[in-house]
Amino acid sequence: MNAPIPRDIPLPLPASEGLLEILLIVSFVVHIIFVHLMVGGSLFSLVCQVKGLDVPDYDRLANYIMRSITVNKSLAVVMGVAPLLIINTLYAPQFYASSALMGDVWMAVIPLVTIAFLAAYAHKFWWNRFVDFKVMHIGIAFLETTIFLLVPLIFMTNVNLMLFPERWPEVKGFFSAMLLPNVLPRYLHFLSAAVLISSLFLVWLTGRRAFALEAPVNTLRILDVRRFFYSFALGAVLVQVLTGMLAWITLPAEGMSWTVTIWLFIGGVPAIPAVWLIWRDLNEQARNAFKHFNKVVGLFAISILIMAYARHEYRVNSLTDHNMAIALKTTNYRAAALQAKQDADYIERMKPAVSQSGEGDFQQYCAACHHSELPTVGPAIPEIKTIYANDPEGFVRWTRSPGKKRPESMKMPGFSHLSDNQLQAIARYVLAREE
Ligand code: HEC
Repeated sequence: MNAPIPRDIPLPLPASEGLLEILLIVSFVVHIIFVHLMVGGSLFSLVCQVKGLDVPDYDRLANYIMRSITVNKSLAVVMGVAPLLIINTLYAPQFYASSALMGDVWMAVIPLVTIAFLAAYAHKFWWNRFVDFKVMHIGIAFLETTIFLLVPLIFMTNVNLMLFPERWPEVKGFFSAMLLPNVLPRYLHFLSAAVLISSLFLVWLTGRRAFALEAPVNTLRILDVRRFFYSFALGAVLVQVLTGMLAWITLPAEGMSWTVTIWLFIGGVPAIPAVWLIWRDLNEQARNAFKHFNKVVGLFAISILIMAYARHEYRVNSLTDHNMAIALKTTNYRAAALQAKQDADYIERMKPAVSQSGEGDFQQYCAACHHSELPTVGPAIPEIKTIYANDPEGFVRWTRSPGKKRPESMKMPGFSHLSDNQLQAIARYVLAREE
Protein backbone atom coordinates (compact mmCIF):
# COMPACT_ATOMS: atom_id res chain seq x y z
CA MET A 1 0.00 0.00 0.00
CA ASN A 2 1.55 3.30 -1.04
CA ALA A 3 -1.02 5.32 0.87
CA PRO A 4 0.19 8.16 3.04
CA ILE A 5 -0.20 7.07 6.64
CA PRO A 6 -0.81 10.01 8.93
CA ARG A 7 -0.20 9.73 12.64
CA ASP A 8 -3.24 9.81 14.84
CA ILE A 9 -3.62 12.06 17.85
CA PRO A 10 -4.30 9.50 20.53
CA LEU A 11 -7.19 11.09 22.36
CA PRO A 12 -10.16 9.18 23.74
CA LEU A 13 -13.43 9.30 21.75
CA PRO A 14 -16.23 11.27 23.42
CA ALA A 15 -18.44 8.15 23.38
CA SER A 16 -18.05 4.50 22.56
CA GLU A 17 -17.28 3.77 18.93
CA GLY A 18 -20.37 1.60 18.47
CA LEU A 19 -22.67 4.33 19.76
CA LEU A 20 -21.05 6.91 17.51
CA GLU A 21 -21.49 4.60 14.52
CA ILE A 22 -25.19 4.13 15.23
CA LEU A 23 -25.61 7.88 15.68
CA LEU A 24 -23.74 8.43 12.44
CA ILE A 25 -26.02 6.12 10.45
CA VAL A 26 -29.23 7.48 11.98
CA SER A 27 -28.30 11.15 11.75
CA PHE A 28 -27.02 10.61 8.23
CA VAL A 29 -30.32 9.06 7.13
CA VAL A 30 -32.26 12.00 8.57
CA HIS A 31 -29.89 14.45 6.92
CA ILE A 32 -29.90 12.78 3.53
CA ILE A 33 -33.70 12.63 3.40
CA PHE A 34 -33.91 16.38 3.83
CA VAL A 35 -31.13 16.84 1.31
CA HIS A 36 -33.13 14.75 -1.15
CA LEU A 37 -36.17 16.92 -0.53
CA MET A 38 -34.13 20.08 -0.94
CA VAL A 39 -32.43 19.03 -4.17
CA GLY A 40 -35.48 17.28 -5.62
CA GLY A 41 -37.78 20.11 -4.55
CA SER A 42 -35.59 22.68 -6.28
CA LEU A 43 -35.53 20.53 -9.40
CA PHE A 44 -39.29 20.09 -9.41
CA SER A 45 -39.88 23.75 -8.81
CA LEU A 46 -37.64 24.55 -11.76
CA VAL A 47 -39.35 22.00 -14.00
CA CYS A 48 -42.77 23.36 -13.04
CA GLN A 49 -41.67 26.91 -13.75
CA VAL A 50 -40.56 25.92 -17.21
CA LYS A 51 -43.84 24.12 -17.80
CA GLY A 52 -45.53 27.20 -16.38
CA LEU A 53 -44.48 29.12 -19.48
CA ASP A 54 -47.30 27.29 -21.28
CA VAL A 55 -49.66 26.35 -18.49
CA PRO A 56 -49.75 29.07 -15.79
CA ASP A 57 -51.06 26.56 -13.26
CA TYR A 58 -47.68 24.92 -13.20
CA ASP A 59 -46.06 28.18 -12.24
CA ARG A 60 -48.38 28.45 -9.26
CA LEU A 61 -47.51 24.88 -8.44
CA ALA A 62 -43.82 25.78 -8.64
CA ASN A 63 -44.45 28.52 -6.12
CA TYR A 64 -46.25 26.11 -3.83
CA ILE A 65 -43.34 23.67 -4.02
CA MET A 66 -40.88 26.45 -3.39
CA ARG A 67 -42.72 27.53 -0.27
CA SER A 68 -43.00 24.02 1.08
CA ILE A 69 -39.37 23.02 0.50
CA THR A 70 -37.90 26.06 2.20
CA VAL A 71 -38.20 24.43 5.57
CA ASN A 72 -36.52 21.29 4.20
CA LYS A 73 -33.59 23.34 3.00
CA SER A 74 -32.86 24.65 6.46
CA LEU A 75 -33.37 21.22 7.99
CA ALA A 76 -31.04 19.64 5.45
CA VAL A 77 -28.26 21.95 6.54
CA VAL A 78 -28.98 21.78 10.26
CA MET A 79 -29.33 18.00 10.23
CA GLY A 80 -26.02 17.75 8.40
CA VAL A 81 -24.12 19.07 11.39
CA ALA A 82 -24.40 15.87 13.45
CA PRO A 83 -23.12 13.39 10.85
CA LEU A 84 -20.38 15.81 9.82
CA LEU A 85 -19.14 16.12 13.39
CA ILE A 86 -19.29 12.37 13.95
CA ILE A 87 -17.40 11.69 10.72
CA ASN A 88 -14.81 14.18 11.89
CA THR A 89 -14.53 12.36 15.18
CA LEU A 90 -14.52 8.76 13.97
CA TYR A 91 -12.45 9.22 10.82
CA ALA A 92 -10.36 12.21 11.75
CA PRO A 93 -7.14 11.33 9.87
CA GLN A 94 -8.87 10.30 6.65
CA PHE A 95 -11.50 13.00 6.57
CA TYR A 96 -8.95 15.66 7.36
CA ALA A 97 -6.74 14.44 4.52
CA SER A 98 -9.49 14.28 1.91
CA SER A 99 -10.89 17.68 2.94
CA ALA A 100 -7.45 19.21 2.70
CA LEU A 101 -6.78 17.66 -0.71
CA MET A 102 -9.76 19.51 -2.15
CA GLY A 103 -9.62 22.32 0.38
CA ASP A 104 -10.59 25.29 -1.79
CA VAL A 105 -13.72 23.69 -3.18
CA TRP A 106 -14.56 22.14 0.17
CA MET A 107 -14.45 25.57 1.80
CA ALA A 108 -16.48 26.99 -1.08
CA VAL A 109 -19.45 24.97 0.17
CA ILE A 110 -20.20 27.64 2.74
CA PRO A 111 -20.46 30.64 0.38
CA LEU A 112 -22.22 28.45 -2.19
CA VAL A 113 -24.92 27.36 0.22
CA THR A 114 -25.27 30.95 1.43
CA ILE A 115 -25.79 32.23 -2.09
CA ALA A 116 -28.27 29.46 -2.89
CA PHE A 117 -30.24 30.20 0.27
CA LEU A 118 -30.34 33.92 -0.42
CA ALA A 119 -31.42 33.28 -4.01
CA ALA A 120 -34.11 30.89 -2.85
CA TYR A 121 -35.47 33.29 -0.25
CA ALA A 122 -35.40 36.23 -2.64
CA HIS A 123 -37.21 34.15 -5.20
CA LYS A 124 -39.86 33.09 -2.75
CA PHE A 125 -40.50 36.57 -1.36
CA TRP A 126 -40.50 38.37 -4.67
CA TRP A 127 -42.18 35.66 -6.67
CA ASN A 128 -44.94 37.90 -7.89
CA ARG A 129 -42.55 40.62 -8.95
CA PHE A 130 -40.39 38.22 -10.91
CA VAL A 131 -43.17 36.22 -12.41
CA ASP A 132 -43.68 38.46 -15.43
CA PHE A 133 -40.00 38.78 -16.01
CA LYS A 134 -39.38 35.21 -17.12
CA VAL A 135 -35.62 35.33 -17.64
CA MET A 136 -35.12 36.52 -14.10
CA HIS A 137 -37.79 34.21 -12.74
CA ILE A 138 -36.42 31.04 -14.23
CA GLY A 139 -32.83 32.27 -14.10
CA ILE A 140 -32.81 32.60 -10.35
CA ALA A 141 -34.41 29.17 -9.94
CA PHE A 142 -31.78 27.79 -12.27
CA LEU A 143 -28.94 29.36 -10.27
CA GLU A 144 -30.27 28.05 -7.01
CA THR A 145 -30.92 24.57 -8.38
CA THR A 146 -27.46 24.39 -9.93
CA ILE A 147 -25.85 25.19 -6.61
CA PHE A 148 -28.04 22.71 -4.78
CA LEU A 149 -26.93 20.10 -7.31
CA LEU A 150 -23.28 21.03 -6.96
CA VAL A 151 -23.00 20.93 -3.17
CA PRO A 152 -23.87 17.22 -2.80
CA LEU A 153 -21.35 16.47 -5.53
CA ILE A 154 -18.67 18.20 -3.48
CA PHE A 155 -19.65 16.28 -0.36
CA MET A 156 -19.76 13.01 -2.21
CA THR A 157 -16.36 13.61 -3.77
CA ASN A 158 -14.92 14.24 -0.33
CA VAL A 159 -16.45 11.28 1.48
CA ASN A 160 -15.45 9.09 -1.44
CA LEU A 161 -11.88 10.38 -1.51
CA MET A 162 -11.45 9.77 2.20
CA LEU A 163 -12.07 6.06 1.63
CA PHE A 164 -9.14 5.56 -0.72
CA PRO A 165 -5.89 6.76 0.86
CA GLU A 166 -3.88 5.03 -1.86
CA ARG A 167 -5.33 7.52 -4.35
CA TRP A 168 -4.40 10.58 -2.31
CA PRO A 169 -0.93 11.04 -3.83
CA GLU A 170 -2.33 11.25 -7.36
CA VAL A 171 -5.27 13.54 -6.58
CA LYS A 172 -4.85 17.17 -7.64
CA GLY A 173 -7.75 19.07 -6.19
CA PHE A 174 -11.48 18.70 -6.50
CA PHE A 175 -11.86 17.78 -10.16
CA SER A 176 -9.41 14.93 -10.18
CA ALA A 177 -11.00 13.64 -6.96
CA MET A 178 -14.40 13.90 -8.61
CA LEU A 179 -13.22 11.76 -11.49
CA LEU A 180 -12.27 8.82 -9.30
CA PRO A 181 -14.24 5.88 -10.68
CA ASN A 182 -17.04 5.68 -8.19
CA VAL A 183 -18.10 9.29 -7.67
CA LEU A 184 -20.24 10.00 -10.71
CA PRO A 185 -22.25 6.76 -10.58
CA ARG A 186 -22.90 7.37 -6.91
CA TYR A 187 -23.89 10.93 -7.65
CA LEU A 188 -26.38 9.81 -10.29
CA HIS A 189 -27.72 7.30 -7.81
CA PHE A 190 -28.14 10.12 -5.32
CA LEU A 191 -29.85 12.36 -7.89
CA SER A 192 -32.42 9.77 -8.82
CA ALA A 193 -33.03 9.16 -5.11
CA ALA A 194 -33.61 12.90 -4.70
CA VAL A 195 -36.19 12.85 -7.49
CA LEU A 196 -37.79 9.72 -6.07
CA ILE A 197 -38.11 10.95 -2.51
CA SER A 198 -39.22 14.45 -3.37
CA SER A 199 -41.78 13.16 -5.87
CA LEU A 200 -43.27 10.97 -3.16
CA PHE A 201 -43.21 13.94 -0.81
CA LEU A 202 -45.05 16.02 -3.40
CA VAL A 203 -47.63 13.30 -4.00
CA TRP A 204 -48.28 13.39 -0.27
CA LEU A 205 -48.22 17.18 -0.07
CA THR A 206 -50.67 17.69 -2.91
CA GLY A 207 -52.96 15.06 -1.41
CA ARG A 208 -53.48 17.03 1.78
CA ARG A 209 -56.69 18.90 2.38
CA ALA A 210 -54.68 22.10 2.90
CA PHE A 211 -53.54 21.90 -0.69
CA ALA A 212 -57.09 21.49 -1.99
CA LEU A 213 -58.23 24.42 0.16
CA GLU A 214 -55.51 26.71 -1.02
CA ALA A 215 -56.27 25.52 -4.56
CA PRO A 216 -53.14 26.84 -6.25
CA VAL A 217 -54.21 25.03 -9.41
CA ASN A 218 -57.25 26.14 -11.37
CA THR A 219 -57.35 24.39 -14.71
CA LEU A 220 -55.41 21.29 -13.76
CA ARG A 221 -57.08 18.54 -11.77
CA ILE A 222 -55.36 17.76 -8.48
CA LEU A 223 -55.49 14.10 -9.40
CA ASP A 224 -53.45 14.80 -12.52
CA VAL A 225 -50.96 16.88 -10.61
CA ARG A 226 -50.46 14.03 -8.18
CA ARG A 227 -50.12 11.54 -11.00
CA PHE A 228 -47.60 13.82 -12.64
CA PHE A 229 -45.40 13.59 -9.56
CA TYR A 230 -46.09 9.92 -9.00
CA SER A 231 -44.96 9.04 -12.51
CA PHE A 232 -41.66 10.76 -11.76
CA ALA A 233 -41.34 8.42 -8.80
CA LEU A 234 -41.76 5.47 -11.10
CA GLY A 235 -39.13 6.70 -13.55
CA ALA A 236 -36.78 7.58 -10.71
CA VAL A 237 -36.88 4.08 -9.20
CA LEU A 238 -35.89 2.58 -12.52
CA VAL A 239 -32.98 5.00 -12.83
CA GLN A 240 -32.17 4.21 -9.20
CA VAL A 241 -31.79 0.54 -9.96
CA LEU A 242 -29.60 1.17 -13.01
CA THR A 243 -27.34 3.72 -11.33
CA GLY A 244 -27.23 1.53 -8.24
CA MET A 245 -25.84 -1.33 -10.32
CA LEU A 246 -23.37 1.02 -11.94
CA ALA A 247 -22.25 2.34 -8.56
CA TRP A 248 -21.86 -1.18 -7.27
CA ILE A 249 -19.76 -2.25 -10.28
CA THR A 250 -17.48 0.77 -10.00
CA LEU A 251 -17.07 0.47 -6.25
CA PRO A 252 -13.34 -0.14 -5.66
CA ALA A 253 -12.59 -3.58 -4.31
CA GLU A 254 -10.97 -2.34 -1.09
CA GLY A 255 -14.22 -2.10 0.80
CA MET A 256 -16.07 -4.90 -0.95
CA SER A 257 -17.15 -7.96 0.90
CA TRP A 258 -19.95 -10.43 0.55
CA THR A 259 -21.75 -8.86 3.46
CA VAL A 260 -21.72 -5.45 1.81
CA THR A 261 -22.89 -6.87 -1.50
CA ILE A 262 -25.67 -8.88 0.10
CA TRP A 263 -26.89 -5.92 2.12
CA LEU A 264 -26.81 -3.68 -0.94
CA PHE A 265 -28.93 -6.14 -2.87
CA ILE A 266 -31.30 -6.73 0.01
CA GLY A 267 -31.62 -2.95 0.19
CA GLY A 268 -32.60 -2.93 -3.47
CA VAL A 269 -35.21 -5.64 -3.17
CA PRO A 270 -38.06 -3.41 -1.86
CA ALA A 271 -37.80 -1.46 -5.12
CA ILE A 272 -39.39 -4.38 -7.00
CA PRO A 273 -42.75 -4.47 -5.20
CA ALA A 274 -42.64 -0.67 -4.99
CA VAL A 275 -42.42 -0.31 -8.75
CA TRP A 276 -45.23 -2.76 -9.17
CA LEU A 277 -47.45 -0.89 -6.65
CA ILE A 278 -46.76 2.53 -8.16
CA TRP A 279 -47.54 1.15 -11.58
CA ARG A 280 -50.84 -0.23 -10.36
CA ASP A 281 -51.73 2.99 -8.56
CA LEU A 282 -51.04 4.98 -11.69
CA ASN A 283 -53.43 2.86 -13.68
CA GLU A 284 -56.24 2.96 -11.16
CA GLN A 285 -59.40 4.98 -11.36
CA ALA A 286 -59.54 8.22 -9.42
CA ARG A 287 -61.09 6.67 -6.33
CA ASN A 288 -58.28 4.17 -5.80
CA ALA A 289 -55.53 6.14 -7.43
CA PHE A 290 -53.15 6.24 -4.46
CA LYS A 291 -54.30 3.20 -2.56
CA HIS A 292 -50.80 1.76 -2.13
CA PHE A 293 -49.01 5.01 -1.53
CA ASN A 294 -48.26 4.34 2.15
CA LYS A 295 -46.92 0.90 1.38
CA VAL A 296 -44.67 2.36 -1.29
CA VAL A 297 -43.29 4.90 1.18
CA GLY A 298 -42.76 2.14 3.76
CA LEU A 299 -40.86 0.00 1.27
CA PHE A 300 -38.52 2.82 0.39
CA ALA A 301 -37.99 3.68 4.05
CA ILE A 302 -36.78 0.11 4.64
CA SER A 303 -34.62 0.32 1.57
CA ILE A 304 -32.98 3.58 2.69
CA LEU A 305 -32.13 2.20 6.13
CA ILE A 306 -30.54 -0.92 4.71
CA MET A 307 -28.61 1.07 2.12
CA ALA A 308 -27.31 3.46 4.74
CA TYR A 309 -26.13 0.51 6.78
CA ALA A 310 -24.45 -1.18 3.80
CA ARG A 311 -22.78 2.09 2.93
CA HIS A 312 -21.40 2.33 6.43
CA GLU A 313 -20.12 -1.26 6.28
CA TYR A 314 -18.36 -0.48 3.05
CA ARG A 315 -16.64 2.48 4.62
CA VAL A 316 -15.55 0.47 7.64
CA ASN A 317 -14.18 -2.27 5.36
CA SER A 318 -12.30 -0.04 3.04
CA LEU A 319 -10.60 1.81 5.89
CA THR A 320 -9.69 -1.21 8.00
CA ASP A 321 -6.16 -1.59 6.61
CA HIS A 322 -5.47 2.09 6.69
CA ASN A 323 -6.70 2.42 10.26
CA MET A 324 -4.48 -0.43 11.34
CA ALA A 325 -1.51 1.17 9.62
CA ILE A 326 -2.28 4.45 11.37
CA ALA A 327 -2.61 2.71 14.72
CA LEU A 328 0.70 0.95 14.19
CA LYS A 329 2.44 4.14 13.18
CA THR A 330 0.98 5.96 16.15
CA THR A 331 2.09 3.24 18.55
CA ASN A 332 5.59 3.21 17.09
CA TYR A 333 5.76 6.96 17.29
CA ARG A 334 4.70 6.99 20.91
CA ALA A 335 7.25 4.31 21.74
CA ALA A 336 9.97 6.28 19.96
CA ALA A 337 8.92 9.49 21.73
CA LEU A 338 9.02 7.72 25.08
CA GLN A 339 12.46 6.31 24.28
CA ALA A 340 13.73 9.75 23.24
CA LYS A 341 12.48 11.25 26.46
CA GLN A 342 14.14 8.52 28.51
CA ASP A 343 17.40 9.09 26.64
CA ALA A 344 17.15 12.83 27.24
CA ASP A 345 16.47 12.27 30.93
CA TYR A 346 19.44 9.96 31.13
CA ILE A 347 21.74 12.51 29.48
CA GLU A 348 20.42 15.20 31.81
CA ARG A 349 21.16 13.02 34.82
CA MET A 350 24.68 12.32 33.54
CA LYS A 351 25.40 15.99 32.80
CA PRO A 352 27.19 16.97 36.03
CA ALA A 353 29.66 14.17 35.40
CA VAL A 354 30.21 15.14 31.80
CA SER A 355 30.83 18.81 32.49
CA GLN A 356 32.65 18.29 35.74
CA SER A 357 35.87 19.77 34.48
CA GLY A 358 34.11 22.90 33.20
CA GLU A 359 36.64 23.17 30.40
CA GLY A 360 34.30 21.97 27.70
CA ASP A 361 31.58 24.41 28.72
CA PHE A 362 34.07 27.26 29.01
CA GLN A 363 35.29 26.60 25.47
CA GLN A 364 31.76 26.38 24.22
CA TYR A 365 30.19 29.32 26.01
CA CYS A 366 32.85 31.72 27.21
CA ALA A 367 36.09 31.46 25.23
CA ALA A 368 34.80 33.56 22.35
CA CYS A 369 34.84 36.68 24.52
CA HIS A 370 37.35 35.81 27.21
CA HIS A 371 40.91 35.40 26.04
CA SER A 372 43.68 33.85 28.14
CA GLU A 373 45.94 36.94 28.09
CA LEU A 374 44.45 39.99 26.43
CA PRO A 375 41.17 41.75 27.05
CA THR A 376 39.03 41.25 23.95
CA VAL A 377 35.26 41.62 24.03
CA GLY A 378 35.36 40.90 27.70
CA PRO A 379 38.15 41.06 30.26
CA ALA A 380 40.99 38.51 29.98
CA ILE A 381 41.20 35.49 32.26
CA PRO A 382 43.92 36.85 34.61
CA GLU A 383 41.77 39.86 35.38
CA ILE A 384 38.78 37.66 36.15
CA LYS A 385 40.95 35.45 38.31
CA THR A 386 42.11 38.43 40.31
CA ILE A 387 38.59 39.62 40.94
CA TYR A 388 37.08 36.23 41.87
CA ALA A 389 40.09 34.30 43.23
CA ASN A 390 38.36 33.78 46.57
CA ASP A 391 34.81 34.13 45.44
CA PRO A 392 33.64 31.34 43.13
CA GLU A 393 30.05 31.99 44.23
CA GLY A 394 30.35 35.61 43.06
CA PHE A 395 31.70 34.34 39.73
CA VAL A 396 28.68 32.08 39.35
CA ARG A 397 26.26 34.86 40.34
CA TRP A 398 27.77 37.23 37.81
CA THR A 399 27.78 34.69 35.02
CA ARG A 400 24.18 33.75 35.62
CA SER A 401 23.04 37.36 35.45
CA PRO A 402 25.86 39.79 34.73
CA GLY A 403 25.70 43.41 35.72
CA LYS A 404 27.20 46.35 33.85
CA LYS A 405 30.66 47.31 35.10
CA ARG A 406 33.16 48.53 32.51
CA PRO A 407 31.92 51.67 30.78
CA GLU A 408 33.90 50.95 27.59
CA SER A 409 32.66 47.41 27.01
CA MET A 410 29.33 45.94 26.04
CA LYS A 411 27.05 44.22 28.52
CA MET A 412 27.78 40.55 28.92
CA PRO A 413 24.91 38.16 28.03
CA GLY A 414 23.55 36.15 30.95
CA PHE A 415 23.88 32.36 31.22
CA SER A 416 20.93 31.50 33.40
CA HIS A 417 20.20 28.50 31.16
CA LEU A 418 23.33 26.69 32.40
CA SER A 419 22.85 24.57 35.51
CA ASP A 420 24.43 25.40 38.86
CA ASN A 421 26.70 22.39 38.47
CA GLN A 422 27.90 23.61 35.10
CA LEU A 423 28.51 27.16 36.29
CA GLN A 424 30.35 25.99 39.39
CA ALA A 425 32.51 23.71 37.26
CA ILE A 426 33.33 26.62 34.93
CA ALA A 427 34.24 28.77 37.92
CA ARG A 428 36.51 26.08 39.36
CA TYR A 429 38.15 25.62 35.96
CA VAL A 430 38.73 29.34 35.26
CA LEU A 431 39.93 30.22 38.73
CA ALA A 432 42.38 27.30 38.85
CA ARG A 433 43.73 27.82 35.39
CA GLU A 434 47.46 28.27 34.84
CA GLU A 435 48.11 30.99 32.26
C1 HEC B 1 29.50 37.85 24.06
C2 HEC B 1 30.72 38.00 24.82
C3 HEC B 1 30.81 37.32 26.16
C4 HEC B 1 30.66 36.01 26.45
C5 HEC B 1 30.22 34.88 25.49
C6 HEC B 1 30.95 35.84 27.84
N1 HEC B 1 31.26 37.02 28.38
FE1 HEC B 1 31.90 37.34 30.29
N2 HEC B 1 32.09 39.28 29.87
C7 HEC B 1 31.82 39.90 28.67
C8 HEC B 1 31.96 41.32 28.78
C9 HEC B 1 31.74 42.34 27.70
C10 HEC B 1 32.30 41.57 30.14
C11 HEC B 1 32.52 42.89 30.81
C12 HEC B 1 31.10 43.35 31.23
C13 HEC B 1 31.08 44.61 32.04
O1 HEC B 1 32.16 44.95 32.61
O2 HEC B 1 30.02 45.18 32.14
C14 HEC B 1 32.39 40.25 30.74
C15 HEC B 1 32.77 40.06 32.09
C16 HEC B 1 32.88 38.83 32.67
C17 HEC B 1 33.35 38.62 34.02
C18 HEC B 1 33.91 39.67 34.97
C19 HEC B 1 32.79 40.19 35.84
C20 HEC B 1 33.30 41.28 36.76
O3 HEC B 1 32.87 41.25 37.92
O4 HEC B 1 34.09 42.11 36.29
C21 HEC B 1 33.25 37.30 34.28
C22 HEC B 1 33.59 36.57 35.58
C23 HEC B 1 32.74 36.69 33.09
N3 HEC B 1 32.55 37.63 32.12
C24 HEC B 1 32.51 35.32 32.97
C25 HEC B 1 32.00 34.77 31.81
C26 HEC B 1 31.74 33.35 31.73
C27 HEC B 1 31.93 32.28 32.81
C28 HEC B 1 31.28 33.13 30.47
C29 HEC B 1 30.80 31.84 29.86
C30 HEC B 1 29.80 31.09 30.61
C31 HEC B 1 31.25 34.42 29.80
N4 HEC B 1 31.71 35.38 30.64
C32 HEC B 1 30.90 34.62 28.50
C33 HEC B 1 31.47 39.30 27.50
C34 HEC B 1 31.20 37.94 27.37
